[in-house]
Amino acid sequence: MNKHQIKKIAVIGAGLMGHGIALEIAAAGYHVNLYDVTQDILDAAKENIDYGLKRLVDSGKIKVDEISKTKLLIKTSNDLGSQLRDVDLVIEAAPENVSIKQELFKKFGELCPSHTILASNTSSLKPSLYASHSKRPDKVLVMHYANPPHLVPLVEIVRSDKTSDTTVNTAKAFIEGIGKNVIVVNKEVEGFILNRLQIALLRESLWLVENGITDIEGVDKAIKYCTGRRWAFAGIFEVWELAGWDTIEKIYREVAPTLASKTDIPAPLKRLIDKGLFGSKSGQGFYKSDKNWTDSVKTRIAKGLASFK
Ligand SMILES: NC(=O)c1ccc[n+]([C@@H]2O[C@H](COP(=O)([O-])OP(=O)(O)OC[C@H]3O[C@@H](n4cnc5c(N)ncnc54)[C@H](O)[C@@H]3O)[C@@H](O)[C@H]2O)c1
Repeated sequence: MNKHQIKKIAVIGAGLMGHGIALEIAAAGYHVNLYDVTQDILDAAKENIDYGLKRLVDSGKIKVDEISKTKLLIKTSNDLGSQLRDVDLVIEAAPENVSIKQELFKKFGELCPSHTILASNTSSLKPSLYASHSKRPDKVLVMHYANPPHLVPLVEIVRSDKTSDTTVNTAKAFIEGIGKNVIVVNKEVEGFILNRLQIALLRESLWLVENGITDIEGVDKAIKYCTGRRWAFAGIFEVWELAGWDTIEKIYREVAPTLASKTDIPAPLKRLIDKGLFGSKSGQGFYKSDKNWTDSVKTRIAKGLASFK
C-alpha cells in the first residue's frame, strides 16, 4: 500500500460528532472503526447512525438500499488497541478537554502504525497542545467538522508548525474525496476560522440581549431571515462587494467603536451556566429546548442542509 493512501479510518469518540463523522466516511465506501469508552454509548451511537444515514438518503448522498451496506463498514468496539491497529487515519472526537486529548494522542502514537495520520475534531484547541504527545507531530493536525458533520459540507484543516506538507495534502485530498469543501488554516490560532467568527457574533448577540436592544428571538430572526440566509449563498466579502466598500467603511466607523469587546462571559450566558441550563442536553437554555423543540430544530436544519445539492 502506498503509505499515504488512506483506506481505513478510526473515529475515536462516538458522541454527537463522532457518529456523524463515522457514518459519512462509511457512506463514501471506507471501513471505519468507531471507538467509545462503553458498549452502551456505542449502542446509542448505532441508533444515531441509523437516523443520520436516513438524512443522507434525504440529501441524495446515498440511496436507501445502500444503508445496510454502509452500516456493515462501521465496526464498533470499546477496545482502543484493536480499533487503532490497522488504520491509516484517526479522527479524534472525544470531549473538548486538553488533558483527554493529550492522553489520547499519546495512546495513538503508541498503538497506531507509524504512517497513520492523527487528526482531532477539536473546536478550539490548537494542534501544538497535543501533537508532541503522539511522538509524531509531523502527522498531527485538526480536522474540524461542524454539526451535523455528515451534512455540513465543510471541514477546516488546521496545521501546527510541525505538521508536514504531506500530512496536510493527504488529509485534504481525503476530505475532498468524500465530497467536502476544505479550508486549510495556515497558522494555528484558538478557535481557527469558524469559531472565531461564531464567537465574535455570539459576543455581540449577547451584548444586544443584555442591553435590552432586542431579545434572543430578535437576534435569531436577524440571522435566520437575513445575514445567515444570504451567507448560505455568498460570503461576507462577496455580499459586501455588492454593497460597496465605501458604504461599508462608513458603517464600520459608526458601529465598530460601540461593539462588545469584553472577554469575560456575558451576563445572560453566565446566568444560564450557573443554573445548569445548557440547552437541549438539559432541556432548557435560552429556549425551552425539550425533546419536541430539539427534534423540530434538528429536522429543520437537516432538511435545509439536505436541500443544498
Ligand atoms: N458539538 C459540536 O457542535 C461540535 C462541533 C465541532 C467540533 N466539536 C468537537 O468535537 C469533539 C466532540 O464533541 P461532541 O459534541 O461530539 O461531544 P460528545 O460529548 O457528544 O461526545 C464525546 C464522546 O467522547 C467519549 N469519550 C469520553 N472520554 C473519552 C476518551 N477518553 N476516549 C474516547 N472517547 C471518549 C464520550 O463517551 C462521548 O461519547 C469536541 O472536541 C468538540 O469540541 C463539537
